[in-house]
Amino acid sequence: MTALDQTAQWKALQAHWEEISDVHMRDLFGGDPERFEQMSLQTCGILLDYSKNRITRDSVRKLLDLANGADVVGWIRRMFSGDRLNNTEGRAVLHVALRNRSNQPIWVDGQDIMPAVNRILEKMESFTNAVRGGGWTGFTGKTITDVVNIGIGGSNLGPLMVVDALKPYCAEGPRSHFVSNVDPNHIEDTLKRLDPETSLFIVSSKTFTTQETLANAHAARNWLLQALGQETAVARHFVAVSTNAEAVQKFGINLDNMFEIWDWVGGRFSLWSAIGLPIALAIGMDKFYELLDGAHEMDRHFAETDQLSENMPVILALLGVWYVNFVGARTHAVLPYDQHLRYLPAYLQQADMESNGKRVTRHGYPVDYATGPVVWGAAGTDGQHAFYQLIHQGTQLVPCDFIAPVSSHSSLGDQHRILLANFIAQSEALMTGRPAEEARAELEASGLPPTAALDLLPHKVFPGNRPSNSILLDRLTPRRLGALIALYEHKIFVQGIIWRVNSFDQWGVELGKQLADVVLGELTGTIEPGDHDGSTRELVKYCRNHFRG
Ligand code: F6P
Repeated sequence: MTALDQTAQWKALQAHWEEISDVHMRDLFGGDPERFEQMSLQTCGILLDYSKNRITRDSVRKLLDLANGADVVGWIRRMFSGDRLNNTEGRAVLHVALRNRSNQPIWVDGQDIMPAVNRILEKMESFTNAVRGGGWTGFTGKTITDVVNIGIGGSNLGPLMVVDALKPYCAEGPRSHFVSNVDPNHIEDTLKRLDPETSLFIVSSKTFTTQETLANAHAARNWLLQALGQETAVARHFVAVSTNAEAVQKFGINLDNMFEIWDWVGGRFSLWSAIGLPIALAIGMDKFYELLDGAHEMDRHFAETDQLSENMPVILALLGVWYVNFVGARTHAVLPYDQHLRYLPAYLQQADMESNGKRVTRHGYPVDYATGPVVWGAAGTDGQHAFYQLIHQGTQLVPCDFIAPVSSHSSLGDQHRILLANFIAQSEALMTGRPAEEARAELEASGLPPTAALDLLPHKVFPGNRPSNSILLDRLTPRRLGALIALYEHKIFVQGIIWRVNSFDQWGVELGKQLADVVLGELTGTIEPGDHDGSTRELVKYCRNHFRG
C-alpha cells in the first residue's frame, strides 16, 4: 500500500496549498458571489457554513479525491455493518446501533444486537419512570431528589455535557450531580450537599476497574452506610452501568440494578447507551429517545449520502485534515455560543484526542504525517475576553468551529441576539481582518497626534484570513443535540480513516495508570520505592515525608 503522504491525492493537495497559501479569503469572497451557497450544507436542522475557510472549489475537489482514495464510503459501510474496525481490541464499533431507531437488524458474530439494545432501553425506561414518578424510593421510603453519576472519561463527559446542554428540559427530574475526579474533594463537596435518604448513585464504568470511579463509589457507599446503618440500603441507592457483572456484584450492587453495555460501545461514544442513564433520569425517557432520534437522523445522512460533497461529517473531517496536514495547524478550537454547551469543548476533546491522538497506523507502522490536533475551547463570549486575542493576532493559525442555536430557550430574546451578533461578528473579523489602510484611517479619525498614531498602527492591524466554520442549530433541543454530537463522532471517524489510524482504542492512557499503581504502593509504604529516575524518586520521597493524612 502506498504511504499516505506519497499518494497522488496527498501530493496534489500539497502542491495546491503552495499555490493558494497567499490568497486572502476576502478576495475569494469578492471573486465568487456564490461562495456561501457553494460552501454550505444543511441537514438534520443544522446549517454548516464552511465558506470562511482558506479553500477554493478546487481545494474541495482535491480533498474529496483524498476521501475517495481512502474509500471513506466503504469504511462507513463497514462500520454500520458491524465489522471489527477496532482491530487492536478485536471489537466492532457500533454506537450507531444504540440509536438505530429504524430497528433494522445489525449483526455481530451472526447475532442481531438490536433485541439486546431494545431490552436495555426498556429497562432504562421503566427505571427512569419509577424514579421520576416516585415509584422507586430510597431505603427509608423517601422519593429520590438527587442523582449522582460516578464515572470518568466517557462514563462522565457525555452525560455531564448533555444534561447541562438540556437544562431547560430538566425541570421535572431529580437534580443531577457528576463526580469524576479521584481528588477526594470532588466526592466530598458533592456529598455535603446531599441527603442520603433521597440520593441515588449511578456507578458508571464500562470496565468497573477504573481506579477513580471505584474510589469515589466506595466513598459514597461508606457515607450512605454510615447514615442509614444497613447493608441492605445499598440496593435502593446504588445502580451500576457496566459490562462487568462480576465486579458489579462484588461491589455489592444487585445485578437486577445493573444496566448492561457491550464491548462494541467505545467509552467516548457511549452516552447513547445505559451510560446515558443520568440523562434519561434528568430529562425523561421521551426526551432521551428524541436525543437518539436526532443522532439516528445524522447517522442516516452520513451513511446514505454517497455524494461526499454533500456529506456534512465528511466535509467537516476533510477541512480538519486540510488544516492539520497541509496548512500546518496544530490545534482546533470549539467555540459554542450557548452557555448550556459549555462542556462541549471538554467532551469533544476526549472524543477527538483519545480517538485520533495516535502515532502509528492501525497496522502498527509509524505515521510520518500529523494526526489529531489539540482540541480546546470555551463558551463564547467568555473566550472572547480570554484567548481570542491570540486567534486574531497571534502567530498560530487556529481553525475554529463557532456553534450557536438561532433561537434560545431563554425569555430574554434580545440578549440572545447580542450573543448571536458576537457569534457572527467574530468569524467575520477573523476572516476579513483589518488592513493597515483601514486601521490608519481609524486612528487619524480618532484625533491622535500623527506620531502616536504611527506607533500604534502595527498593533491595530488584523491580518485576517483566519479560518472558521459556523454551525447553526435552529434551537438546542434533544433532537438537534443528538444530531450535533453524531456529526462530530462521524467527523472523527472519517479523519481516522484518512489518517489510517484505529480511532477506537486508547492504549496511550495505560502507562500512566500502571505507574500510578506502583507509585501508590510506594506512597502508602506497601512497597519500597523502586527503580525510578532522579526526579520521580525525589517526588515520591518528598510526598512520603510531607504527607499529613
Ligand atoms: O481514559 C481511558 C478510559 O478508558 C476512557 O476511554 C473511558 O471513557 C474511561 O477510561 C472510563 O473507563 P470506564 O468506563 O471503564 O471506567
